[in-house]
Amino acid sequence: MTKIEKIVLSYSGGLDTSIILKWLQETYRCEVVTFTADLGQGEELEPARAKAEMAGVKDIRIVDLREEFVSDFVFPMLRANALYEGQYLLGSSIARPLIAKHLVDIAREVGADAVAHGATGKGNDQLRFELAVNALDPSIKVIAPWRQWNIRSRMQLLEYAEKHRIPVPSDKRGEAPFSIDANLLHTSTEGKSLENPAEVAPDHVYQRTVDPVDAPDAPEIITIGFERGDPVSVNGKAMTPAALLTELNGLGGRHGVGRLDLVENRFIGMKSRGIYETPGGTILLAAHRGIESMTLDRAAAHLKDEIMPRYAELIYNGFWFAPEREMLQALIDHSQAFVSGEVTLRLYKGSASVISRASPCSLYSADLVTFEESAIAFDHHDAEGFIRLNGLRLRSWAARNGK
Ligand code: ARG
Repeated sequence: MTKIEKIVLSYSGGLDTSIILKWLQETYRCEVVTFTADLGQGEELEPARAKAEMAGVKDIRIVDLREEFVSDFVFPMLRANALYEGQYLLGSSIARPLIAKHLVDIAREVGADAVAHGATGKGNDQLRFELAVNALDPSIKVIAPWRQWNIRSRMQLLEYAEKHRIPVPSDKRGEAPFSIDANLLHTSTEGKSLENPAEVAPDHVYQRTVDPVDAPDAPEIITIGFERGDPVSVNGKAMTPAALLTELNGLGGRHGVGRLDLVENRFIGMKSRGIYETPGGTILLAAHRGIESMTLDRAAAHLKDEIMPRYAELIYNGFWFAPEREMLQALIDHSQAFVSGEVTLRLYKGSASVISRASPCSLYSADLVTFEESAIAFDHHDAEGFIRLNGLRLRSWAARNGK
């Protein structure tokens, strides 16, 4: 085993990373610095400090990353209307590169030669952490205890905790809990009964959205303001990125917006089934498409739609800090210069529907499109020639086919 001098651990304060902390200290016999990020997961973070202190950690970092997460990661991704496999808004995928960036920054600051994470060997998250570290600082080693130790099951994990006097919450003693990953963009739940895709997810899986059936009978109308592709206000009130997403999560959650039950293809090779709740993100995707529909040129919009699946796959697979993602981002950001204005949506029993939109940079011309008499010169004979030429090859083809 290579000698490690100092490790920065991505530490949630939960059972798994508490065990990992102990294991790192015992295995490498070196200082471990803990880093706990507030990404809006809605959990108290001070208990993480107490637990790290109890484990003898001298350097404990707890950092509020909510604004950076939304402004530098979530919003750039939303500019692309990114969806993986047509449906997943990438809530976990987009958080990992941010955590990795801070792990690397802290490692450099404290002179650590390694970082560690609690992602397992079967998931996507290990790729996202480690590819990001590779891209940001190839000199830093990555320790992934789940791939190294001989703990192979939940039972063995609890035994290890007991042996090392790591407190195990009583609800974790019996049945294994769901695997949950939450932040300001989403809550993702996997494991247990969800591993059978033929089985309907139990109600208690859902944490931040009501069942659309139980949502209010009265629809709620909201207006979102955009500037250069990014949302900046809700109902006329200017908000910071994190405050805006928090507000929309509340609104969407009350109306049951943004639930998704999905079987997806992991990069590592297997299919998995998960439940996602992305209330604010779902509203923002609909609203952003609404304002783009007014302000983007047709070919520009269609080009964005062509590259979107590729861009989303890069984020899903862990290539946020790769050159090709940055190239696509430059293209996407360039397209957003005039994506400004307001979109009004109706939230109602699980849906977020655009019902009106307006922009000072609009390309929409009522005068041009109108069924009525119009002042703008549009020669209807041009349309005739346009159709005749577009139909030319179709007429040849049909004649050959003997029609
Ligand atoms: N399958 C999702 C992804 O790869 C979520 C992964 C983390 N979620 C979890 N519940 N452990 O992005």
